[in-house]
Amino acid sequence: MPTPKDILYQLPEGRVLDIATGSGGFIHFLLEGLPAYTEIIGLDTNERAATAFPEAFKDKPNIRFEVGDALRLNFEADSFDLVCISNSLHHFADPLPVLRHMERVLRPGGYFLVAEMYRDGQTETQMTHVHLHHWWAAVDTVNGVVHRGTYQRQELVEMVAGLGLEALALYDLADTDENPKNPEILADLNPVFERYLQRAEGYPELQARGEELRQRVEEIGFQGATTLIAIGKKGTR
Ligand SMILES: C[S@@+](CC[C@H](N)C(=O)[O-])C[C@H]1O[C@@H](n2cnc3c(N)ncnc32)[C@H](O)[C@@H]1O
Repeated sequence: MPTPKDILYQLPEGRVLDIATGSGGFIHFLLEGLPAYTEIIGLDTNERAATAFPEAFKDKPNIRFEVGDALRLNFEADSFDLVCISNSLHHFADPLPVLRHMERVLRPGGYFLVAEMYRDGQTETQMTHVHLHHWWAAVDTVNGVVHRGTYQRQELVEMVAGLGLEALALYDLADTDENPKNPEILADLNPVFERYLQRAEGYPELQARGEELRQRVEEIGFQGATTLIAIGKKGTR
Protein backbone atom coordinates (compact mmCIF):
# COMPACT_ATOMS: atom_id res chain seq x y z
CA MET A 1 0.00 0.00 0.00
CA PRO A 2 1.41 3.42 -0.92
CA THR A 3 2.38 5.74 1.92
CA PRO A 4 1.36 9.45 2.09
CA LYS A 5 4.85 10.33 0.84
CA ASP A 6 4.37 7.98 -2.16
CA ILE A 7 1.20 9.89 -3.03
CA LEU A 8 2.93 13.25 -2.60
CA TYR A 9 5.75 11.97 -4.83
CA GLN A 10 3.27 11.40 -7.67
CA LEU A 11 1.82 14.91 -7.57
CA PRO A 12 2.51 17.24 -10.47
CA GLU A 13 4.45 20.42 -9.74
CA GLY A 14 2.01 23.03 -8.45
CA ARG A 15 0.90 25.56 -5.86
CA VAL A 16 0.56 24.36 -2.27
CA LEU A 17 -1.29 25.98 0.64
CA ASP A 18 -0.62 24.90 4.24
CA ILE A 19 -3.36 26.27 6.48
CA ALA A 20 -2.55 27.10 10.15
CA THR A 21 1.08 26.44 9.34
CA GLY A 22 2.64 27.78 12.57
CA SER A 23 6.36 27.81 11.93
CA GLY A 24 5.85 25.44 9.00
CA GLY A 25 6.47 22.09 10.71
CA PHE A 26 4.20 20.24 8.26
CA ILE A 27 5.90 21.79 5.24
CA HIS A 28 9.06 19.86 6.16
CA PHE A 29 6.98 16.66 5.88
CA LEU A 30 5.61 17.79 2.49
CA LEU A 31 9.09 18.54 1.21
CA GLU A 32 10.17 14.96 1.99
CA GLY A 33 7.51 13.70 -0.45
CA LEU A 34 6.88 16.35 -3.10
CA PRO A 35 9.24 16.00 -6.06
CA ALA A 36 8.69 19.65 -7.05
CA TYR A 37 6.43 22.65 -6.43
CA THR A 38 5.98 26.06 -7.96
CA GLU A 39 5.09 27.78 -4.68
CA ILE A 40 4.26 26.85 -1.09
CA ILE A 41 2.34 29.31 1.07
CA GLY A 42 2.03 28.77 4.82
CA LEU A 43 -0.85 30.75 6.30
CA ASP A 44 -1.40 31.48 9.98
CA THR A 45 -3.05 34.16 12.13
CA ASN A 46 -0.06 34.17 14.46
CA GLU A 47 2.26 36.98 13.44
CA ARG A 48 5.01 35.56 15.66
CA ALA A 49 5.20 32.58 13.28
CA ALA A 50 6.07 35.10 10.56
CA THR A 51 9.56 35.34 12.07
CA ALA A 52 10.23 31.64 12.70
CA PHE A 53 8.83 30.56 9.32
CA PRO A 54 11.18 32.43 6.94
CA GLU A 55 14.13 31.40 9.10
CA ALA A 56 13.12 27.73 8.75
CA PHE A 57 12.92 27.94 4.94
CA LYS A 58 15.59 30.52 4.14
CA ASP A 59 17.45 28.03 1.92
CA LYS A 60 14.34 26.95 -0.01
CA PRO A 61 12.97 28.98 -2.89
CA ASN A 62 9.31 29.97 -3.29
CA ILE A 63 8.15 29.09 0.22
CA ARG A 64 6.53 32.02 1.94
CA PHE A 65 4.43 32.89 4.97
CA GLU A 66 1.19 34.89 4.91
CA VAL A 67 -0.59 36.25 7.94
CA GLY A 68 -4.23 35.34 7.45
CA ASP A 69 -7.31 33.71 8.87
CA ALA A 70 -8.31 30.25 7.66
CA LEU A 71 -11.91 31.38 7.89
CA ARG A 72 -11.36 34.28 5.46
CA LEU A 73 -9.11 32.97 2.71
CA ASN A 74 -8.28 35.73 0.27
CA PHE A 75 -7.19 33.42 -2.54
CA GLU A 76 -8.88 32.89 -5.88
CA ALA A 77 -11.19 29.90 -6.20
CA ASP A 78 -9.54 26.79 -7.73
CA SER A 79 -6.08 28.35 -7.44
CA PHE A 80 -4.11 25.64 -5.55
CA ASP A 81 -3.05 22.12 -6.54
CA LEU A 82 -2.65 20.86 -2.96
CA VAL A 83 -4.23 22.22 0.22
CA CYS A 84 -3.23 20.91 3.67
CA ILE A 85 -4.09 21.33 7.31
CA SER A 86 -2.02 19.60 9.96
CA ASN A 87 -2.74 19.26 13.66
CA SER A 88 -4.92 22.33 13.63
CA LEU A 89 -8.56 21.26 13.17
CA HIS A 90 -8.86 21.24 16.97
CA HIS A 91 -7.92 24.95 17.00
CA PHE A 92 -11.33 25.87 15.55
CA ALA A 93 -14.65 25.90 17.39
CA ASP A 94 -16.12 24.47 14.17
CA PRO A 95 -13.60 23.04 11.70
CA LEU A 96 -16.10 22.46 8.89
CA PRO A 97 -16.09 26.05 7.54
CA VAL A 98 -12.27 25.86 7.41
CA LEU A 99 -12.43 22.68 5.34
CA ARG A 100 -15.01 24.31 3.04
CA HIS A 101 -12.79 27.36 2.48
CA MET A 102 -9.89 25.06 1.66
CA GLU A 103 -12.06 23.15 -0.80
CA ARG A 104 -13.05 26.39 -2.52
CA VAL A 105 -9.46 27.43 -3.25
CA LEU A 106 -8.44 23.91 -4.40
CA ARG A 107 -8.69 23.28 -8.14
CA PRO A 108 -10.84 20.39 -9.36
CA GLY A 109 -8.59 17.34 -9.48
CA GLY A 110 -6.27 18.89 -6.88
CA TYR A 111 -5.36 17.10 -3.63
CA PHE A 112 -6.75 17.78 -0.16
CA LEU A 113 -4.67 16.61 2.82
CA VAL A 114 -5.76 16.55 6.46
CA ALA A 115 -3.38 15.40 9.22
CA GLU A 116 -4.60 15.25 12.81
CA MET A 117 -3.64 13.28 15.91
CA TYR A 118 -6.42 11.35 17.64
CA ARG A 119 -7.07 9.99 21.09
CA ASP A 120 -8.42 6.44 20.77
CA GLY A 121 -6.37 3.24 20.39
CA GLN A 122 -3.18 4.77 21.79
CA THR A 123 -0.57 3.02 23.95
CA GLU A 124 0.06 4.22 27.52
CA THR A 125 3.12 6.19 26.43
CA GLN A 126 1.18 7.78 23.54
CA MET A 127 -1.62 8.58 26.01
CA THR A 128 0.88 10.86 27.75
CA HIS A 129 0.76 12.99 24.57
CA VAL A 130 -3.05 12.89 24.50
CA HIS A 131 -3.30 13.88 28.19
CA LEU A 132 -0.75 16.64 27.70
CA HIS A 133 -2.65 17.89 24.70
CA HIS A 134 -5.88 18.01 26.71
CA TRP A 135 -4.10 19.94 29.46
CA TRP A 136 -2.69 22.45 26.94
CA ALA A 137 -6.19 22.84 25.50
CA ALA A 138 -7.69 23.42 28.97
CA VAL A 139 -5.04 26.04 29.82
CA ASP A 140 -5.49 27.81 26.47
CA THR A 141 -9.27 27.75 26.94
CA VAL A 142 -9.13 29.55 30.31
CA ASN A 143 -6.92 32.10 28.57
CA GLY A 144 -9.59 32.69 25.93
CA VAL A 145 -7.84 30.79 23.12
CA VAL A 146 -9.93 28.30 21.10
CA HIS A 147 -8.26 24.94 21.67
CA ARG A 148 -10.34 21.78 21.81
CA GLY A 149 -9.43 18.34 23.08
CA THR A 150 -8.30 15.62 20.69
CA TYR A 151 -10.78 14.08 18.26
CA GLN A 152 -11.58 10.41 17.99
CA ARG A 153 -10.41 8.77 14.77
CA GLN A 154 -13.94 8.14 13.56
CA GLU A 155 -14.92 11.79 14.05
CA LEU A 156 -12.03 12.79 11.79
CA VAL A 157 -12.91 10.16 9.19
CA GLU A 158 -16.51 11.41 9.09
CA MET A 159 -15.41 15.04 8.83
CA VAL A 160 -13.21 14.31 5.83
CA ALA A 161 -15.71 11.90 4.25
CA GLY A 162 -18.22 14.77 4.31
CA LEU A 163 -16.06 16.63 1.77
CA GLY A 164 -16.95 14.05 -0.88
CA LEU A 165 -13.34 13.70 -2.06
CA GLU A 166 -12.45 11.13 -4.70
CA ALA A 167 -9.91 8.33 -4.12
CA LEU A 168 -9.80 9.11 -0.39
CA ALA A 169 -6.92 7.27 1.30
CA LEU A 170 -6.41 7.05 5.07
CA TYR A 171 -3.15 6.37 6.89
CA ASP A 172 -2.32 6.04 10.57
CA LEU A 173 1.16 7.32 11.27
CA ALA A 174 2.95 6.63 14.54
CA ASP A 175 6.55 6.37 15.59
CA THR A 176 6.32 3.86 18.40
CA ASP A 177 9.94 2.72 17.94
CA GLU A 178 11.07 5.96 19.56
CA ASN A 179 12.41 5.51 23.14
CA PRO A 180 9.59 6.88 25.37
CA LYS A 181 12.18 8.03 27.87
CA ASN A 182 14.47 9.67 25.32
CA PRO A 183 16.18 12.36 27.44
CA GLU A 184 16.12 14.80 24.50
CA ILE A 185 12.34 14.60 24.14
CA LEU A 186 11.87 14.96 27.89
CA ALA A 187 14.20 17.97 27.89
CA ASP A 188 12.23 19.51 25.00
CA LEU A 189 9.04 19.16 27.04
CA ASN A 190 10.43 21.07 30.03
CA PRO A 191 10.11 24.59 28.57
CA VAL A 192 6.60 23.69 27.38
CA PHE A 193 5.67 22.68 30.94
CA GLU A 194 7.13 25.93 32.26
CA ARG A 195 5.20 28.01 29.72
CA TYR A 196 1.88 26.29 30.37
CA LEU A 197 2.30 26.25 34.16
CA GLN A 198 2.79 30.00 33.95
CA ARG A 199 -0.27 30.37 31.73
CA ALA A 200 -2.23 28.32 34.30
CA GLU A 201 -1.47 30.80 37.10
CA GLY A 202 -4.65 31.50 39.07
CA TYR A 203 -6.04 28.03 38.24
CA PRO A 204 -4.68 25.70 40.95
CA GLU A 205 -6.39 22.60 39.52
CA LEU A 206 -4.77 23.16 36.15
CA GLN A 207 -1.41 23.78 37.78
CA ALA A 208 -1.75 20.56 39.80
CA ARG A 209 -2.68 18.67 36.61
CA GLY A 210 0.45 20.03 34.95
CA GLU A 211 2.62 18.75 37.80
CA GLU A 212 0.93 15.32 37.62
CA LEU A 213 1.65 15.19 33.91
CA ARG A 214 5.25 16.19 34.41
CA GLN A 215 5.56 13.23 36.78
CA ARG A 216 3.81 10.97 34.27
CA VAL A 217 6.30 11.95 31.58
CA GLU A 218 9.15 10.89 33.90
CA GLU A 219 7.53 7.68 35.12
CA ILE A 220 5.70 6.37 32.03
CA GLY A 221 7.40 8.30 29.24
CA PHE A 222 6.15 10.05 26.14
CA GLN A 223 5.52 9.02 22.55
CA GLY A 224 3.68 11.01 19.90
CA ALA A 225 0.04 10.01 19.47
CA THR A 226 -0.95 8.38 16.18
CA THR A 227 -1.85 10.85 13.45
CA LEU A 228 -4.52 10.21 10.86
CA ILE A 229 -3.50 11.38 7.41
CA ALA A 230 -6.37 11.63 4.93
CA ILE A 231 -5.62 12.44 1.29
CA GLY A 232 -8.22 12.71 -1.45
CA LYS A 233 -8.91 14.51 -4.72
CA LYS A 234 -11.46 17.24 -5.33
CA GLY A 235 -13.90 16.01 -7.94
CA THR A 236 -13.80 17.50 -11.42
CA ARG A 237 -17.58 17.82 -11.80
C1 LIG B 1 -0.68 23.21 16.66
S1 LIG B 1 -0.33 24.52 15.56
C2 LIG B 1 -0.10 23.59 14.08
C3 LIG B 1 1.14 23.98 13.34
C4 LIG B 1 1.48 23.19 12.07
N1 LIG B 1 0.35 23.04 11.18
C5 LIG B 1 2.11 21.87 12.36
O1 LIG B 1 1.53 20.83 12.05
O2 LIG B 1 3.24 21.87 12.89
C6 LIG B 1 -1.91 25.27 15.29
C7 LIG B 1 -1.85 26.57 14.51
O3 LIG B 1 -3.17 27.01 14.17
C8 LIG B 1 -3.11 28.43 14.05
N2 LIG B 1 -4.46 28.99 13.94
C9 LIG B 1 -5.42 29.01 14.89
N3 LIG B 1 -6.53 29.62 14.43
C10 LIG B 1 -6.26 30.01 13.15
C11 LIG B 1 -7.01 30.67 12.13
N4 LIG B 1 -8.27 31.09 12.35
N5 LIG B 1 -6.44 30.86 10.93
C12 LIG B 1 -5.15 30.45 10.69
N6 LIG B 1 -4.39 29.82 11.62
C13 LIG B 1 -4.94 29.60 12.83
C14 LIG B 1 -2.34 28.81 15.31
O4 LIG B 1 -1.83 30.12 15.25
C15 LIG B 1 -1.25 27.73 15.32
O5 LIG B 1 -0.07 28.18 14.68
